[in-house]
Amino acid sequence: MNVEPHEDDEAAAQPNASPAPRPPRRTTRVVELEQQIERLTPKLRIAVVFGGDKTVDGAVINPTPNTRPWKSYEPVAEDIAQALRRLGFNQVFLMPEDMRLGDRLRREGIHLAWLNTGGVQGYNPMAHAAAMMEMYGIPYIGHDPLTTGVLDNKHVFKRSLAALDIRTAPFMTWHPARGPIQPKANGRFIRTFKDHWGPFVVKPVSGRGSLHVHVIERESDLSDAIAEVFAATENHVLIEAYLPGREFCVAACGSVTARGRQLARRGEPFVFAAVERILAPGEKIFTSMDVVPITADRLHVLNSASDMSAMRELHEISRKVFVELHLESLVRLDVRVDAAGRMCILEANPKPDLRAPSESVTSLVCAGLAEHGMDYDDLILSLLADRLDLLFSQRRGTVSRLSPLLQSSSAA
Ligand SMILES: Nc1ncnc2c1ncn2[C@@H]1O[C@H](COP(=O)(O)OP(=O)(O)O)[C@@H](O)[C@H]1O
Ligand SMILES: [Mg+2]
Repeated sequence: MNVEPHEDDEAAAQPNASPAPRPPRRTTRVVELEQQIERLTPKLRIAVVFGGDKTVDGAVINPTPNTRPWKSYEPVAEDIAQALRRLGFNQVFLMPEDMRLGDRLRREGIHLAWLNTGGVQGYNPMAHAAAMMEMYGIPYIGHDPLTTGVLDNKHVFKRSLAALDIRTAPFMTWHPARGPIQPKANGRFIRTFKDHWGPFVVKPVSGRGSLHVHVIERESDLSDAIAEVFAATENHVLIEAYLPGREFCVAACGSVTARGRQLARRGEPFVFAAVERILAPGEKIFTSMDVVPITADRLHVLNSASDMSAMRELHEISRKVFVELHLESLVRLDVRVDAAGRMCILEANPKPDLRAPSESVTSLVCAGLAEHGMDYDDLILSLLADRLDLLFSQRRGTVSRLSPLLQSSSAA
């Protein structure tokens, strides 16, 4: 196992630490943060929120279509809750996201929510829970509503990447309300794809797990695929050039991390879990984990001995995305190599799968933890600690109910 250097020598050892000078280390703040977490641990009431089911009585006023394929994520919420309990947080509650959530949070006296939900229904569902937390005044682990919306709408995220000169697959969107697409007569299509007339990928702008992702050989077949994706999502449809190369994932989160339950602060985001997804012969797109679980033979954790250049590039791409998009919570990027050998970002997942690894099945994010001397509970502690650090240092106005818990005399 590759044990990561401690923060003093970390910049030198990272495959491509930023050339910019690191901000001064503030190790005292980590000590202070450790003390804050120690005080909070017995008192903090945490809700782990998973995706509510719109068919349950009282969940919504009117059920509407799901623009993003729905999933409850409850088993993963349970994994997160169990890790929090192992870390000493004994007041952890699982709750579905639905219209009764505010009442439940109030009734249970919740101080902090962990958002492990993709929403219940409707448009931009991934952002609904964060928007509700903002409205309720409950601090949460997860991206703010706007960032979640940007990340979970692939076309909007890709426009941000284009503005930042970060490479992504050539793309455009289509909506059947504009009639059938006519590629050869469409100026946007010709400008975007130039002399590329196939293959293409047609997929939902807000999707997950390779669902409704089509590989289309000829431009004449685009309309049918667009119709299928629209029928499933009632939303804009993304058309991309098909990228034929290798596929990678990489995760990035905030700079406070735990290893062996010890906190440390880095001078930059923590980039980890650089893995290659292994495609079977003839497998053009990575099969959904809903269909085939992620087992060790389906991914290769990159290592600095044999994959240095890919790791370096993935590190730089994800660092750039995290910093330039002002991200404040975990993301996992999906990356694919184009015909010219260049890495292109396919998408950013604002709520990557955090399933606790078992002997047979893992998640893309957790598969890379051992490389950093971390286990699952370290990851959960890292995400919690990084958020508490952010709240106490930059969001003082939103922690009015957390701050009193820091006083050793205060009641739970
Ligand atoms: N432009 C593309 N070229 C090649 N493969 C693609 C492209 N877009 C998507 N894929 C394949 O489809 C899978 C799912 O697409 P992705 O954009 O990651 O959406 P999601 O994971 O939300 O379904 C990817 O993991 C990749 O295997
Ligand atoms: Mg993906």
